Amino acid sequence: MSSHRIAVIGGDGIGPEVVEAGVKVLEALAATEPDLAFEFERFDWGSDYYRRNGRMMPQDGLAQIEGVDAIYFGSVGDPDLPDDITLWGLRLAICQGFDQYANVRPTRLLPGLTGPLRPELGQQIDWVIVRENSEGEYAGVGGRAHRGLPIEVGMDVAVFTRAGIERIAQFACELAISRPRKLLTVVTKSNAQRHGMVFWDEVVREVVRDYPGLTVDWMLVDAMTQRMVNKPGSIDTVLATNLHADILSDLAAALGGSLGIGSTANINPSRSRPPMFEPIHGSAFDITGKGVANPLGAFWTASLMLDHLGEQAAARRLMAAIETVTDRGEYLSPDLGGSARTAEVTAAVIAALSGVNSTSSSRLAG
Ligand code: IPM
Ligand code: MG
Repeated sequence: MSSHRIAVIGGDGIGPEVVEAGVKVLEALAATEPDLAFEFERFDWGSDYYRRNGRMMPQDGLAQIEGVDAIYFGSVGDPDLPDDITLWGLRLAICQGFDQYANVRPTRLLPGLTGPLRPELGQQIDWVIVRENSEGEYAGVGGRAHRGLPIEVGMDVAVFTRAGIERIAQFACELAISRPRKLLTVVTKSNAQRHGMVFWDEVVREVVRDYPGLTVDWMLVDAMTQRMVNKPGSIDTVLATNLHADILSDLAAALGGSLGIGSTANINPSRSRPPMFEPIHGSAFDITGKGVANPLGAFWTASLMLDHLGEQAAARRLMAAIETVTDRGEYLSPDLGGSARTAEVTAAVIAALSGVNSTSSSRLAG
């Protein structure tokens, strides 16, 4: 019996609502799989914690969760606190502190859902975006000077290191080559940004040479948005910098039906520090506490977590249950055009778990 230790950080807004729904689903899954068990440890970190303690998590927060197998995270962001405080104080502190340099974001149009594209195009979406998650435009390097004066200045410096580019490029190549199409699209903006981005291109080009079985093509980030909309079937695995992938993954989630479904894995591939799994939708204060948040992003995220924990059969079963629910269309939340509440979607997925086995789903998310 393998028992996985999971740190649960609901965070802000709808985060706690959707991750608690996810915990229920994982418990239901464990109850029916003889070899699967979880120990969930809750951490009340986030903006309310900040209001009480003046920080988003305790000073030794990372040490408290360093020993877990995975972190299941909701969201962070509060309308009354500056985003740079809440994000850098919790989510980015965990990603960067645990060197989770690979951010993986799968997108597919799940059965029964209709995205904004024409159906024949939407159904071609089957992408995984690999986002560099430790440096680039999010390095936090820069500064402010001449505060309050007419010559005031603010700078963010995008940092690209050879080690940082090499490791994410290797990760993306391995992932791309493990997928049937063996196709990697590298996103860049080296036509305009002539230092860091040109270096990015050079180092990625060196790395992809080690993967002769891989088809590699290159896209400027602006043109990539058009290709995602007009020729979704021409894309499989995508490698992009921190900011470029941030933007492209929102577009991907929208084309995949709803931001409420998107899921993310933040991984340290060396496995020396725990990974973190989160839905990508954010804290959504407009619907917080109303019980209507879409938990499917948190469930898909839980499936990614299971896969990473070596529980492929359970991961597939969960994904198949999600797909059963979207396909039936009876219990969809308002963002997907339905009127089901979070608890109803959760109950529907738990009920569907008993009808599916690990071979029901065509394939795993990532
Ligand atoms: C995401 C989010 C975050 C990011 C925000 C909340 C800082 O948009 O996970 O994509 O930009 O990384
Ligand atoms: Mg984003």
